[in-house]
Amino acid sequence: MVYVGIDLGGTNIVAGVVDKDGKILGKAETPTMAERPYAEVLKDMGDVVVKAVENAGFTMDDVASVGVGAPGVADPETGDIVFANNLRWYNVPVCSTLKAQLNKPVYINNDANVAGLAEAMFGACKGAKSSITITLGTGLGGGIILNGKIWSGTHGVGAELGHIVIEKDGLQCNCGNHGCWERYSSATALIRWGRMAAVEFPSCLINAMVDGDINNITAKTVIDAAKAKDFVAIDVFNKFISYLADGIVTLINSIDPEVIAIGGGVSKAGEFLLEPLRKLVAEKVMFKDLPYARIELAEMGNDAGIVGAAMLGVIA
Ligand code: BGC
Ligand code: NA
Ligand code: ZN
Repeated sequence: MVYVGIDLGGTNIVAGVVDKDGKILGKAETPTMAERPYAEVLKDMGDVVVKAVENAGFTMDDVASVGVGAPGVADPETGDIVFANNLRWYNVPVCSTLKAQLNKPVYINNDANVAGLAEAMFGACKGAKSSITITLGTGLGGGIILNGKIWSGTHGVGAELGHIVIEKDGLQCNCGNHGCWERYSSATALIRWGRMAAVEFPSCLINAMVDGDINNITAKTVIDAAKAKDFVAIDVFNKFISYLADGIVTLINSIDPEVIAIGGGVSKAGEFLLEPLRKLVAEKVMFKDLPYARIELAEMGNDAGIVGAAMLGVIA
């Protein structure tokens, strides 16, 4: 039997057929266009599952279950997305709808929770009894895995680490609050600061790299400019890392996990991100004389969401 995992993202829906050892056997993908009526998006999710199964050379009879990683609060008990701030979705009955279309057991959990599950089963957190994965993308996602199980919290809200308040009365977040960590430590934050810097310092390398069209500034632009020793870009990246370190110190001081894995697009910066981050965390962590969490790069890359979502059926 095989397991299908769906990564429901703001831009694309990707489905992957996965074996029980986490190996991806085939994939299919379709645009999300989340502003449509959600019934249409759910229908496309079902269709993309069928397509992925076909692409992998299986039939639906070979599929044991379908799992969904959702970019927001998902209730594993009811199978609904309760609130997805980046999709602007409230109370969407994902599992019951997909089950009616596909006639398979359907599981759901938060996207970063399933990414964390994948890292714990097969990636950077393999072998650890406790781990936290944070994903730095459009938002900042968090997944806490304890003894092989996702900590979804008491009401399905665990672990919305991106909405830890890191700055009193800080920037407005699309969750409704102010000062959330993801306003300061996501790819979105890095891009926003990169654009502001390019406007303020037009002679900086960030601006030159996009020929003055600041809309083309990505997280990679800022990171590449910082790597090339542009002072403006280094400033932006240091600010980003300092907020990232503060949040991580909060996690270490509160949860004390064995490993913290950093995933999502920004983690492609690799050691360039990790080295200064580890240094700052070492300076700020509360118990300096005790061992504390290893900070590592996530290993599952873009596939973490698919693999982790598929594994919801394996560990169920
Ligand atoms: C959402 C989380 C999600 C994260 C990554 C945040 O804005 O609140 O639920 O895990 O983005 O997609
Ligand atoms: Na989470
Ligand atoms: Zn928030």
